[in-house]
Parts: sequence; structure tokens; C-alpha cells
Amino acid sequence: MKKRFWINFVLVVTAICIPGCKKKTPTPTEPEAKPEAKEARVMSANEEPFGQTADGREVTLYTLTNTNGLRARITNYGAILVSLEVPDRDGNLADITLGFDALDGYLAVHPYFGATVGRYANRIGKARFVLDGVEYELAANDGENHLHGGNKGFDKVVWRPEDLWANDNEALLKMSYISEDGEEGYPGNLACTVTYTLTKDDELKISYEAEADKTTVVNLTNHSYFNLAGQGHGDILGHELTLNADRYTPVDEGLIPTGEIRSVKDSPMDFTSPMSIGSRIKQVIGGYDHNYVLNSGGGTLALAARVYEPTTGRVMEIHTIEPGVQLYTGNFLDGTLTGKGGKVYKKHYAFCLETQHFPDSPNKSNFPSVVLQPGQKYTSVTEHKFSTR
Ligand code: BGC
Repeated sequence: MKKRFWINFVLVVTAICIPGCKKKTPTPTEPEAKPEAKEARVMSANEEPFGQTADGREVTLYTLTNTNGLRARITNYGAILVSLEVPDRDGNLADITLGFDALDGYLAVHPYFGATVGRYANRIGKARFVLDGVEYELAANDGENHLHGGNKGFDKVVWRPEDLWANDNEALLKMSYISEDGEEGYPGNLACTVTYTLTKDDELKISYEAEADKTTVVNLTNHSYFNLAGQGHGDILGHELTLNADRYTPVDEGLIPTGEIRSVKDSPMDFTSPMSIGSRIKQVIGGYDHNYVLNSGGGTLALAARVYEPTTGRVMEIHTIEPGVQLYTGNFLDGTLTGKGGKVYKKHYAFCLETQHFPDSPNKSNFPSVVLQPGQKYTSVTEHKFSTR
């Protein structure tokens, strides 16, 4: 079984990579080919060294740029989105994600800035679950619970670059990681890929694929901390948020869902029409840190959230095939971390919208299943579309 898995994995990776791994050169599309392109802005995908891990592994920083000047920088350490520059209504670019200028910041303890989170995003209660009658014990790294994949989740491993290229429509970076059977307590070898694609239409797409050789659970997401006014530029309480979700999953004091799926109606959880994040945040103990049940039900790409920042006019729309999204309002940021450009990150200086399956699903039979069987393919797609008004 194990052998067949590895053979399949090699075949799949080879099939996917052969055209791409020729590395359709990480150089920009030729400007001469597009004489009409103003200011020689072209779609491009480049790489440069980003430093070394403690055990001496070289890490790379990749830059994807589109013709409107949007720029995403990603490292293969943790498959982390390091920065994302987007224009405001006057065309001024600003980096709208929290993080660090150098690799060192990411190697130290930080709250998953920009990271690819797995094997299971968010919490699993009491760090255990039962699958096919077998109980699996996971790393308990959040009190008695398991959070974001454990002590060494997908955010703390070096991903293998598979593909880096740009054409006239998009710039793309694909990376892979093989999580071994038993890693952080999870069953089965899991071969995963994450692909970042920046399009000419100002979208940053993040998609994931995974296959396992044993029945396991999977839930991958990106943990970017956004501030549409610019990273480190005050709190996000004035951002206007709309969520395409009539319901959410209430949690206990350990932030584990109780299993109830509750209507947001007549409560501070209601973002079904545009509402500033800060307008009712004081009524929510600790601030927002909740999974919303998307009206789409998951499975098809549908609008999950829209965020508008009034002073700069920046708008971010999130579409996903996931059934849920975690709204987290940076409640645990406390000014102890200094990030990019020397900015100090204080409480509510960013929000996260982590598209996902619901927290603790392995222990909640009424939640959409997160079980991946051998022979099945896990896929997840989320698109962030940027505009101004
Ligand atoms: C969780 C928070 C947690 C944060 C950083 C979010 O996804 O919901 O509770 O503090 O990640 O780890």
C-alpha cells in the first residue's frame, strides 16, 4: 500500500511538473513582446535567497508581480505569504499583511503570520480523535487542545519548490511537502501541494492538493493577517466587513466548537450586511475568533467575505470552496512583536479570514467531513480579489 502511494505520488508530481519544472524561466515576460505595456510593467515570477533555517537549510523568497503592480512575496519556509502590496484608490501601493522583513522573524515564535497551516487548521479538542475505531493522540500545543497542526505544523517546515513561472495572465509558485505518517500524531503519509497564483485581474489565488496512503484528516488554510490600510497602520476596527454566512459555530472557553450551529441574527456575530468590525466587538468576549458557516455550503467557489477600508478605499473579496471561514481579529496581538518596517503589532491591528472546514470536525459528526481516504484527492481553493472604491 505504502509503496503504491509513493509510486502514485511520484507519478502525479512528475505529471504536474514536467511542463512547469522546465521552469518556464522565472524571468519576466519579454517587454518587447508587449509594446503597449505601460511603464514596462509585466507579469513576473522571481526568486532570491532568504536565509537559512537553524539546521542549515537554504530558504528562498519568491516574488510574483502583476501588470498593475500588485506584488506577493512568498517564502518556502512554511509556504508563508511574506507580503502583499496592493494599490489604494489613488494608486499608492501598501503592504497589507503583517509579518517580518527577514527570515529570522519567521523562525522565532509568532502567531502564524501569513503561514500555510496544516495538517489541520484551527483546533482539535483535547488533541485527539477517533478514526475507524482507532484513537489518535495529537500534539497538545494550546492547553489541552491541538492548534494549527501542532508543535511543528506545516508553517514550520521547508516546502519544496515545484514550479515558478509567469505568462501574460498570471504568475505562479507551486510548492510541495510530504508530511510523514505519525507527524504530530496524524495517521498516514500525506503528500501536499500549495500553489499561489497572482492574476492580471488582481486576484491572489491559493490552492491546495493532498493525497494520503492511510485514512487521515486534512484541513489546510492560509493564516494571513490583513490590514487594508497598510500593515502596522493602526487597528482594523474601522474596516467594514460583510460575511456571506447566516450561521456560526459557538465555542466553549477553550475555543472548541460546542457542536451547535447557531443563527447570527440579532447578535454581534451578524455581518450579513456591511458592518464595521469594531461596532460591536466589545460585546464579544475576547473579540471575534469564530468559525462562520458559509451559506454556499462549500464545494463550489462562492463569495465568503468582503472587506472595505474607508480611508484608502481598498476592497478585498474572498471566494472559496470551503464551507467555513474563521474570523479572527488579532485579539492576542499585544504589542510585543515588532514586524516589517519596525511596526509594532498591537491588539486588533489585523484581521484573519481563514477559509476552512470547521474547527474540531474530527470530533463532530454533524460538521462537514474532513476525512481523506487513500485514493481520494483533497483540494481546496480560495481567491482574494482586490479593488478600490
Ligand atoms: C485562532 C486563534 C489563534 C490564532 C493564532 C486563529 O486561527 O482562531 O484562536 O490565536 O489563530 O494562533
